[in-house]
Amino acid sequence: MRGLQGKNVILTGGASGIGQAISLRLGEEGCNVGIFDLNGEGANATAEKIRAAGGTANGYAVDVSDYDAVASAVAAFESDCGPVDGLVNNAGWDKSMPFLDTDLELWHKVVAINMYGPLNLCHVILKGMSERGGGRVVNISSDAGRVGSSGEAVYAACKGGLIAFSKTMSRELARKNITLNTVCPGPTNTPLLAEQGPKLVAALERAVPMRRVAEPEDYPGLVSFFLSDDASYITGQTISVSGGLTMHG
Ligand SMILES: NC(=O)c1ccc[n+]([C@@H]2O[C@H](COP(=O)([O-])OP(=O)(O)OC[C@H]3O[C@@H](n4cnc5c(N)ncnc54)[C@H](O)[C@@H]3O)[C@@H](O)[C@H]2O)c1
Repeated sequence: MRGLQGKNVILTGGASGIGQAISLRLGEEGCNVGIFDLNGEGANATAEKIRAAGGTANGYAVDVSDYDAVASAVAAFESDCGPVDGLVNNAGWDKSMPFLDTDLELWHKVVAINMYGPLNLCHVILKGMSERGGGRVVNISSDAGRVGSSGEAVYAACKGGLIAFSKTMSRELARKNITLNTVCPGPTNTPLLAEQGPKLVAALERAVPMRRVAEPEDYPGLVSFFLSDDASYITGQTISVSGGLTMHG
């Protein structure tokens, strides 16, 4: 990818799954990667893998739903590496159950991680990008946010909200040379999906035209592309990576 060498990129949720795969790729592309995760040990382990492969990375233990914690971690990253060039909002969480069985406590947790998380990171980081006149944001949403997903009503609402937020911010900040694009994973072989149980996974495999769920390695190429110079005229877009499960005109 063009233009990624030496770029300072913060990624949330890089201790596991899709975020870990994206982090490793960004390290290979020559980015200085800041891995923000609730699981600080896991974030450090991913950073260590990047360093072992010759790249530059640091892990930071941070809860993305806590605005002050996010602001402190961004300040720590910027003092380690310099101003943030790119942000990947990837951390996410859900507990699947019918909406009528959910309670307020679950709603608050799902909204705090999946909606407030990206809002916090964007609010803290986009101010600096705007002042400097450039930056890239990739938001990891979900096909649930485009077409809905039974058992994931509040999560799907957050993911749909993230798509609308990205489009709005891409309009507000286009003249500042800041792009925001959204990647929507379909069902993916990570701990988040494993929690749903083998029966559901088998049903999803039958539903996907390519007859398999995604692997975390299916995402880093597109995310790197959106962060690269090759994508400088692309903003406000939403792309599904789901083996043909979701097709939009
Ligand atoms: N796996 C799927 O089938 C699937 C499908 C659609 C969308 N997604 C989305 O892809 C993204 C990555 O999911 P994954 O499957 O790799 O999940 P995962 O559970 O493997 O990894 C998520 C990471 O986010 C971190 N995290 C959770 N809450 C956090 C918080 N409050 N602060 C900081 N870090 C936190 C976790 O510690 C973990 O390392 C999520 O946004 C998810 O919603 C996943």
